[in-house]
Amino acid sequence: MAKLLDLKNNYDKDMLKEASEYIREGKLVLFPTETVYGIGANALNEEAIKNIFIAKGRPQDDPLIVHVSSIDMVYDIVEKVTDIEKSLMDKFFPGPLTIVLPKKEIVPYITTGGLDTVGIRMPENIIAHDLIELSNTPIAAPSANISGRPSGTNIKDIFNELNDRVDYIIDGGDTFVGVESTVIRVIDGKINILRPGKITKEDFEKFGYEVIIDKHVLEETKMDEVVLSPGMKYKHYAPNTKCKIIYSSDNNKMINAIKKEENERALVVCKKDNVSYYNNAISYGNTLEEISHNLFSVLRNIDDLDYDLVIFEGVESKGLGLAIMNRLVRACSHNYINLD
Ligand code: TXA
Ligand code: MG
Repeated sequence: MAKLLDLKNNYDKDMLKEASEYIREGKLVLFPTETVYGIGANALNEEAIKNIFIAKGRPQDDPLIVHVSSIDMVYDIVEKVTDIEKSLMDKFFPGPLTIVLPKKEIVPYITTGGLDTVGIRMPENIIAHDLIELSNTPIAAPSANISGRPSGTNIKDIFNELNDRVDYIIDGGDTFVGVESTVIRVIDGKINILRPGKITKEDFEKFGYEVIIDKHVLEETKMDEVVLSPGMKYKHYAPNTKCKIIYSSDNNKMINAIKKEENERALVVCKKDNVSYYNNAISYGNTLEEISHNLFSVLRNIDDLDYDLVIFEGVESKGLGLAIMNRLVRACSHNYINLD
């Protein structure tokens, strides 16, 4: 049983003193960020990091993101930062962005899944920021879920799954963004998006950066394929219920195609404005921001509704929509019909 700290309604930095002691002692602390909850431990403590992998049942070659609270902390753990990477940190830190950089020796290989690089992120959420600062060490934190399950965006969804697997739980209410950070790596002066998130290709392009979206963002990865981000190899987010996605940029065409596949044992997950067109439907919100915020909670709770098939309305794979579709195609094991 983990110790629970409720910061949903009132918050003061001093309240995090105990949690930061847990981090310094090498224990596991579940904490909120602006994207999803993370299972945090001292990034430089091999034993503690080993316990994160055990708690999640995570493959050992899947590297963890290391969270910092200041730019100084970045330079403590990273070998070299190019001008373009520095300009990206200036513009997007703190926020939902992870930049893959060459690691210093001080970062153990267990944290980086054996790689010479480390993913660095400076969270904007005040609880995450203060926890790192008080712990006085970078905190490695994968998303809060057992490996393969949807990431946790509120404590209620993940309490039973993780209560016995971590030492301390900080409840900071619903996370704001809902999907995990954008993961990028700069290669030959170009930004490669390894995992899409709230900070989009278009956001980078506005500043004049050249951007490449890694092909594995929407395509299926073969198990033996070499990928820039090991996380892309693994099955993710999947409910037990069979799922599929149907998408058309023409709303009526999409509704009609879904209605053809509907039966009484099927549930449709759709935009709020489309709920009335289907027999059994629940909404994941209307805007991309709402869908991103609600997606993981919907995926987590869908099995309880006891249907044989779940049909998701897809969204356009642009802007934040790319991050949503990246999670949905994985949740549905690439069972995706694009009518465009
Ligand atoms: O929003 C987030 O990023 C959340 C919160 C807690 O910060 N964290 C998160 O961590 O989503 P995780 O472990 O669930 O996903 C990390 C992803 C994985 O797909 C991993 O492969 C990739 O980031 N990654 C981490 N370090 C990397 C590296 N050195 N090179 C390439 N990919 C890396
Ligand atoms: Mg994850």
